[in-house]
Amino acid sequence: MSLLLRNAEVLFNDPVSVGLYHMGLRCPEIAARIQPGQFLMVRVLETLDPLLRRPFAVHRVYSNDPPTSFEILYRVVGRGTRILAEVLPRTSLSLLGPLGSGFRPPDQDGFMLMIAGGIGIAPLPFLAETLVESGLRGPYVLWFGGKSAGDLVCVEHFQNLGFAVELATEDGSAGRKGLVTQHLEKWMSRQAERPTMVYSCGPHPMQRQVAELVRQLGVKSQLSMEALMACGVGTCLSCSLRCRPPDRGQDLYYANVCQEGPVLLGEDIVWE
Ligand SMILES: Cc1cc2nc3c(=O)[nH]c(=O)nc-3n(C[C@H](O)[C@H](O)[C@H](O)COP(=O)(O)OP(=O)(O)OC[C@H]3O[C@@H](n4cnc5c(N)ncnc54)[C@H](O)[C@@H]3O)c2cc1C
Ligand code: FES
Repeated sequence: MSLLLRNAEVLFNDPVSVGLYHMGLRCPEIAARIQPGQFLMVRVLETLDPLLRRPFAVHRVYSNDPPTSFEILYRVVGRGTRILAEVLPRTSLSLLGPLGSGFRPPDQDGFMLMIAGGIGIAPLPFLAETLVESGLRGPYVLWFGGKSAGDLVCVEHFQNLGFAVELATEDGSAGRKGLVTQHLEKWMSRQAERPTMVYSCGPHPMQRQVAELVRQLGVKSQLSMEALMACGVGTCLSCSLRCRPPDRGQDLYYANVCQEGPVLLGEDIVWE
């Protein structure tokens, strides 16, 4: 499907926790087309500096019929996101998208496990809503880890969708103390049922451990991968990631995460 270059109206841009913001954007054409796990390249200022757009996943699409607006959730980490946090309602922001290949629905109904680390929660509510609305009955479980309690946003939203939510924080301020992957392994070993599909988004080391764990269990996983992205459309090669060819031959190749991802099958990624 062709990508769009559109101006969106900022509906709101509010903090949800320390350093975390959510921004509502009105852009009917993108709202109607975007799929869970796809992303947008956002121009944070209408000047030449900063030159590069920044990539953001769509967090939620508001369910008007047809949808007209959506939300992004972002963490302030550098210059671009600092500028974004200052943007006022009614500002017009240039968006390029929908980009990339997002999450796919599972082949069959069953146990859906979602795993998020920190801002990796961003694309999962849109995915969760889409799966639940499509009639897949689950059961649904979210494992969500962060550095501290302030990172664990939108938990209630998942619970309202029918998810069982398990939390972990590195400092122990909410949920179990430690990394989400430390607890996940023990928890998985106690489950009678294996997940039909594992959907995961978070930092590279977390994704690597998730991929290893699901490989041992013989379970399929779809991982939304982080990569530095300059263009978002497959021309700059800044986002390449070593993968195995889809036909499972011995040769390796470099996938452009912005086009073949950001969501890739865990089994296709070569972890370095
Ligand atoms: C497909 C995709 C979807 C994304 N979705 C979201 C989202 O929904 N919410 C969100 O908060 N962030 C998301 N990110 C990350 C976000 O794009 C970066 O945090 C942002 O571009 C940083 O811009 P900056 O100018 O503030 O930081 P910069 O000044 O450019 O960098 C500050 C720090 O952030 C790191 N950084 C920059 N870009 C990335 C990146 N792509 N991945 C990991 N670390 C990075 C840099 O290495 C540096 O340490 C996504 C990234 C990708 C590739
Ligand atoms: S971001 Fe330029 S090729 Fe992927």
